[in-house]
Amino acid sequence: MEDRQKILESFPRDPDYIIEILHELQNRNPYNYLTPEDIKACAEYLGLPVSYVEGVASFYSMFSLKPRGRYVIRLCDSPPCHLVGSESLLEYLEKKLNIKVGETTEDKLFTLELTSCLGVCAVAPAMMINDEVYGNLTFEKIDKILEEKRGNL
Ligand code: FES
Repeated sequence: MEDRQKILESFPRDPDYIIEILHELQNRNPYNYLTPEDIKACAEYLGLPVSYVEGVASFYSMFSLKPRGRYVIRLCDSPPCHLVGSESLLEYLEKKLNIKVGETTEDKLFTLELTSCLGVCAVAPAMMINDEVYGNLTFEKIDKILEEKRGNL
């Protein structure tokens, strides 16, 4: 795919850029994941073994090797967010989306995941949807955010 090549060539051929490259490759995929072709192309571009690139992609939870929803919801699961109710927000999200953690809605719109601290504990409880952070979450706020995302279609 031509845009894959463009992304690769926008970075120096330096293995230090592997995370940034994988991130960009994943972002351009409407299903938010890295295909075997992405992994292979990245490995070739950086002169690394495919198994190494695959290893990096499976180590970081922000990457997926399986198709996900258009919006990947990553709810913070670290203690400061727990203390202010992230557990009940998780139950709420699961009920609302009718999926469990790690699953994708039938319409392929949302995937629900957990993550460790997003670095915004001051506005806990927090979650990220794709690259955007949302804090001070409440049930009402979640309803509004999901509606907004659905309306973006
Ligand atoms: S613990 Fe949730 S953002 Fe830090």
